[in-house]
Amino acid sequence: MQVRASAGTEAILLVGGRGSRLRPLTVNTPKPMVPAAGVPFLTHQLARARAAGVEHVVMATSYLAEVFEPYFGDGAALGLHLEYVTEEEPLGTGGAIRNVASRLSSAPGDPVLVFNGDILTGLDIRALVSTHTESGADVSLHLTQVTDPRAYGLVPTDAYGRVTAFLEKPQTPEEIVTDQINAGAYVFNRSVIDTIPQGRPVSVERETFPGLLADGAHLHGMVDSTYWLDLGTPAAFVRGSSDLVLGRAPSPAVPGRRGECLVLDGADVAVDAKLTGGTAVGAGAVVGHGARVEGSTLLDGAVVEPGARIRESMVGAGARVGARAVLDGAVVGDGAVVGADNELRAGIRVWCGTELAAGSVRFSSDQ
Ligand code: GTP
Repeated sequence: MQVRASAGTEAILLVGGRGSRLRPLTVNTPKPMVPAAGVPFLTHQLARARAAGVEHVVMATSYLAEVFEPYFGDGAALGLHLEYVTEEEPLGTGGAIRNVASRLSSAPGDPVLVFNGDILTGLDIRALVSTHTESGADVSLHLTQVTDPRAYGLVPTDAYGRVTAFLEKPQTPEEIVTDQINAGAYVFNRSVIDTIPQGRPVSVERETFPGLLADGAHLHGMVDSTYWLDLGTPAAFVRGSSDLVLGRAPSPAVPGRRGECLVLDGADVAVDAKLTGGTAVGAGAVVGHGARVEGSTLLDGAVVEPGARIRESMVGAGARVGARAVLDGAVVGDGAVVGADNELRAGIRVWCGTELAAGSVRFSSDQ
């Protein structure tokens, strides 16, 4: 089938997931709206899509759907035409794609991009579309290679890049037949989107792709091993934000120069505080005397009191970290208060609005 070239290709962004692995950061904010390097994460994806020539994006929303449109509006500020479609009940990744089909203007043979809303990547989006067009595939997938594929869906391909199987979360060594995983960006021929069942939850990974393969459809895998990170967990989200600030991850939407830190307007950082490793400091945040913050994200209005040490952690909007407290691999939810001299490590999650009394949690002796 003849398919059109990449200029003006439409895109669907899947942004309706509950983001349960990222809680409590996703208690008040859907994952794609959690700030990374100073702006809601989705801004980076939209800006990259625009830079690749995409003009029309349909957002498939569900969880906390009401927050997207007030922020991004019609998309004009990003040079995009944005539309929003909200599911009454979550429809899963495939159901969400089907549910927005009526908003697409693409003809049956046209390519339509689909992006997961939690992937930070340097993927060459134009190359994915042109590979799709040249191969004559029904659906093309961006594949990336990882050293430990056990947490992912494996996608082996033949010598021509044609997908041969979909293997969900392999556990035994025999099941790990490739290091290629589904990287969360696809090109669908419009006509394929119209074949996804309507009005019920469908998983594109577990149902649509294996079903298409079983029916003899041509699914193509494009391995692109540039920067790729799934921001689904707090540790990954914090790393992604730091990589954006440092310039390791590409985005046209970082609001400032790349470097050791990004401090948004209205933040107040003491002269002897040290911000390193791609730390982002949100608007209205305060960092006190002698504090050290490394590879971390402080959201708007967060307060870090004098002498605190924060590493690879996330401090939520309006949260407070007390004097001399130590955070390493910690997440502090919006509005929470970590009293002075606490020591929080190893993936600990402090829920939104809670208060830890001074010196109440330690991972080492206080002597
Ligand atoms: P976890 O709950 O932590 O697994 O995160 P998640 O809810 O985001 O799920 P997952 O990472 O598997 O989702 C991949 C992408 O699909 C994300 O961008 C989600 O926002 C999106 N997504 C997942 N389920 C739905 C859904 O039911 N509707 C819509 N519109 N998007 C979804």
